[in-house]
Amino acid sequence: MQSQYFDVYSSWENNPEAFWKSASEAIDWFKEPDAVFDANAGVYGRWFVGGETNTCYNCLDRHVAAGNGDRLAFIHDSAMTGAQRSFTYSEVLAEVKAIATVMRDLGVGYGDRVVIYMPMVPEAIFSMLACARIGAVHSVVFGGFAAQELAARLNDSQAKLVISASCGLEPGRVVAYKPLLDKAIDLATVKPEHCLIVQRPELIAQLRPEKGELDFADLVGNALGRDIECVAVKATDPLYILYTSGTTGKPKGVVRDNGGYMVALAWSIPNIFGIKPGEVFWTASDIGWVVGHSYIVYAPLLAGNTSVIFEGKPVGTPDAGTFWRVIADHDVKVFFTAPTAFRAIRREDPDGELMAHYDLKGLRALFLAGERADPETLKWAEQKLKVPVIDHWWQTETGWPIAANPMGLGLMPFKHGSPTRPMPGYAIDVLDDSGLPVPAGTLGNLAIRLPLPPGCLPTFWSADERFRETCLSTFPGYYTTADAGVIDEDGYVFVMARTDDIINCAGHRLSTGSMEEVCAKHPDVAECAVIGISDTVKGQIPCGFLVLKHNVSRETEKISSEVAEMVRSQIGPVAAFKTVMIVPKLPKTRSGKILRGTMQKIADGMPWTMPATIEDPGALDAVTAALIAKGYGGGMRAVSRTGDT
Ligand code: COA
Ligand code: AMP
Repeated sequence: MQSQYFDVYSSWENNPEAFWKSASEAIDWFKEPDAVFDANAGVYGRWFVGGETNTCYNCLDRHVAAGNGDRLAFIHDSAMTGAQRSFTYSEVLAEVKAIATVMRDLGVGYGDRVVIYMPMVPEAIFSMLACARIGAVHSVVFGGFAAQELAARLNDSQAKLVISASCGLEPGRVVAYKPLLDKAIDLATVKPEHCLIVQRPELIAQLRPEKGELDFADLVGNALGRDIECVAVKATDPLYILYTSGTTGKPKGVVRDNGGYMVALAWSIPNIFGIKPGEVFWTASDIGWVVGHSYIVYAPLLAGNTSVIFEGKPVGTPDAGTFWRVIADHDVKVFFTAPTAFRAIRREDPDGELMAHYDLKGLRALFLAGERADPETLKWAEQKLKVPVIDHWWQTETGWPIAANPMGLGLMPFKHGSPTRPMPGYAIDVLDDSGLPVPAGTLGNLAIRLPLPPGCLPTFWSADERFRETCLSTFPGYYTTADAGVIDEDGYVFVMARTDDIINCAGHRLSTGSMEEVCAKHPDVAECAVIGISDTVKGQIPCGFLVLKHNVSRETEKISSEVAEMVRSQIGPVAAFKTVMIVPKLPKTRSGKILRGTMQKIADGMPWTMPATIEDPGALDAVTAALIAKGYGGGMRAVSRTGDT
């Protein structure tokens, strides 16, 4: 089929408001918007101003009212426990109503914030929807984050309620959540009034009712059968806050609205992902990330799909065939995950032998996002699965794909390494550092012309100015993605690297700046630098370089492991901060800037040039020696030392 992409994209370009007005008809509004877009509202304008709706209503109630209550909404498949459980739309609605009632009884209402710190269990998702039902704003915190990170989110969101679980399950260990939650609340300056705890049989937490700690199942079980209406919220009201790594240690609270988000997601499901109502869509991610918010929870429900909630890993739970088992068991039509998962599977099962044990004939497409999809992994997935493998590019900030090859509109030819073309709503320019467009094929800053489309963030939580400064001020008239890339002469986008200190480790977005902040707190550390270095499975892993204070005589191995432990306990195990090197000096320019880019090239064994402005070339030699000693890069010496001073 000839792709309709060009017609659809130009229909958006010619009349964006008519395009989004038509897309908004997929949503049930309690009150129609006064305007599709109001350029004078908010920081750069707001979508569907004056409209009133409810996201939970659109996800659940309207499907039940339309007679589709018996359709499956969710299949929970835990590769950790072996449990499998399905929920129809009617059953989810009943659970969500019960949770919403409990929340209301606890005094949580419209506009209040609720932090959800949960593993991949259905109660986590039902709680998100219950917040949406009563107009409360949820903020889901990924289970792999430490108490300190949770505390930062409690403070910034000023949450009234926390919903958590007694434990998460990681391969080989039970992660006790309650002690982390207790510590976070101790650290937080703004304390929640109540904590609702889902007790999992693998570890029962001690609850202190006098401290507002309540058993989720008791309260929700008693509330089953009670009715609670959906609160009419403004299209522009926040549905959730999702904190993501910024360039400082303080996470950015990305705000998502109700109306625009629903419109964008509802458009994306048939057009980008090519799925029909009633079909099974599986996104193997976590609700702690934006991918989980959009494509495990909200988009599949808006479109009347069945969504798989998966608890487990691509490998080791129990083997590299788990993904194929889930696809076969649940007749998954479209599957979405991060490239790192495929690299992990390929490492364990290079010939894809485990695939042969499962019937994968129902699968129509694999979507990959969250990090750059390297061409080797893409080709491997294509050869083994024999379905289109669609790389698409987006960010927590955008909430849905910026660039993709839209399955529902007919696929365009693929170019490995490119997420194809911009989706309607996104006009992307490649700019040099002074903000001027560069010729096709030239690397530059990927910037999106304002206004951002519906679904993208209107601002940061309680921080309009930080949003302006971070995202809108670098290139006036644009949102800066902080990704560097190329648009080729055919209009294909290639996303190559971040322009800030964010690294992508196993599809998880992490700030090396915040890791440096933690390393610097160690009493023996005088100076430090953390860079992302290439890793064959995780894409990138953090690598810390420490310079010790002069008088330190303790064993360096011990100091390295203490620093690694500090990052693990203050940021979280997900930071995967395990590679630490002690060096006598950090390589810097004469003006004092640490040469992180050059260090990264050395670590990755890439050609590098001695920077002309280096203060002490010996410092780079020491970094190289430390890397070689640990088995990293370091191989290629300077291709040009003409800049030596
Ligand atoms: N709660 C507590 N700890 C968690 C956690 C959670 N929800 N998620 C991860 N962790 C811990 C892990 O147990 C691990 O701890 P360890 O250092 O003691 O082993 C650490 O954080 C790193 O975890 P992870 O990134 O999952 O690495 P891994 O080595 O266990 O597995 C992959 C590697 C590639 C299999 C895994 O990262 C993966 O499945 N990635 C896909 C990522 C993804 O879907 N991202 C979403 C964006 S689309
Ligand atoms: P997150 O906000 O966690 O979704 O991370 C967003 C970042 O991940 C982007 O800014 C990119 O750096 C990277 N990213 C996501 N998808 C892709 C992709 N398809 N290709 C390249 N990089 C990607």
